[in-house]
Parts: sequence; structure tokens; C-alpha cells
Amino acid sequence: MVVAHPRQGSLTHRAAAAFARAAVAGGHEVETADLMAEGFDPVLRVADAPDWADPTKPWAADVLAEMVRIERNAATVLVFPVWWWSMPAVLKGWIDRVWANGWAYGGRNHPHARVWALAVVGASAAATAEGGFDRVLEGQIVDGIFRFCGVAEPRLALLCDAAADAEGVVAEAARLGAAF
Ligand SMILES: Cc1cc2nc3c(=O)[nH]c(=O)nc-3n(C[C@H](O)[C@H](O)[C@H](O)COP(=O)(O)O)c2cc1C
Repeated sequence: MVVAHPRQGSLTHRAAAAFARAAVAGGHEVETADLMAEGFDPVLRVADAPDWADPTKPWAADVLAEMVRIERNAATVLVFPVWWWSMPAVLKGWIDRVWANGWAYGGRNHPHARVWALAVVGASAAATAEGGFDRVLEGQIVDGIFRFCGVAEPRLALLCDAAADAEGVVAEAARLGAAF
């Protein structure tokens, strides 16, 4: 599970914990990567930029460590707040750097068949659909990233109404963890 939120007491962290508890109760083991707490550097610099002519270009040590962490697990669950109809920069940068050419795409697929995204949304489900950003998130995350990387069982779950119904968000996260 990859969590992207700067505040430990945030609804995003509460939702992640609820998902994990329910998944563990269902027999899973959960390893958590807390990107902000761990200080992951999300900026893709020259060292990580794909060299399209050289698929053997080595990855940076911190990127390699993330790849190892993913490979020792069987599935990925991203938990994050929706910021500007998108994901926080730290998570976007984690994907930019770690889901690299030659590892997640470019002659290879992401190592996991199942990758889920749990997005905590401030707006209600009705406002999200009316604004159209449910489709934007689905296109960006499921089609643009997960399917592009060959993920066979992609899923985006919108945990809406964070502003008005925090307990509902936590309950929905627990339900998803139980169903995982
Ligand atoms: C920078 C920023 C951008 C945001 N953009 C959106 C948005 O586009 N749509 C939305 O519904 N809520 C948006 N929100 C509200 C967050 O989704 C909401 O604060 C979060 O889901 C609440 O949970 P938290 O306690 O984990 O932050 C934004 C919040 C921040 C801080």
C-alpha cells in the first residue's frame, strides 16, 4: 500500500489504515510505503530519464529500492487525496520515477496483476460526476497509467464526500479492504 498525504491524522491516512485492517482480517499481509514520511524524492531528473536507445540504463538507488519493495509484494494499492482533479505530486513523481521504462512498460508490464487506487475526494459523488472529474481520474489513472503498464485488474475507487462524511469514507475503505 502506497500512501500519499503529508498529515498522519488525515482522512487519507485513516482510510488507508481502515483498508489495511480489513485486508489483514481477510488474510492479506500489508506493507505500507508512506511516501511523505519516508521523504521520497518525486522529481524525475536526468539520472532517471528514460534513455530510449539504452534499455539497460541503471536506475537510481532509491528507485531500485522501491522496485524491490513492489516486487516482494503481490499487489499495489495507492491511497491518496484528490488534489486538483489529480493525485498529489509526490505520488505522481513516485510513479514517474519508479514505474520506469523497461520495468513497468517498454517491453515489460508492471509486475502486479492487481493495482487499485483509492482516491479520497472532497466533493460529493454527485458533484464529482457533475464536474466530470470521475471520468478525468479514470482516464488519467486507469487508462493512462495502469492499463498502459499492462495491469490486468486495475480499479479506481472514489471515496467521495470527504468534506461532509468522513466516517462514510473510512467505512467505504474498510469495505474495499474486506473485498480485496
Ligand atoms: C491542493 C488541494 C487540491 C484539492 N483539489 C480537490 C479537487 O480537485 N476535488 C475535490 O473534490 N477535492 C479537492 N480537494 C479536497 C481534498 O480532496 C480533501 O481535502 C481530501 O480528500 C480530504 O481528506 P484529507 O484529510 O486526507 O486531506 C483538494 C485539496 C487540496 C489541499
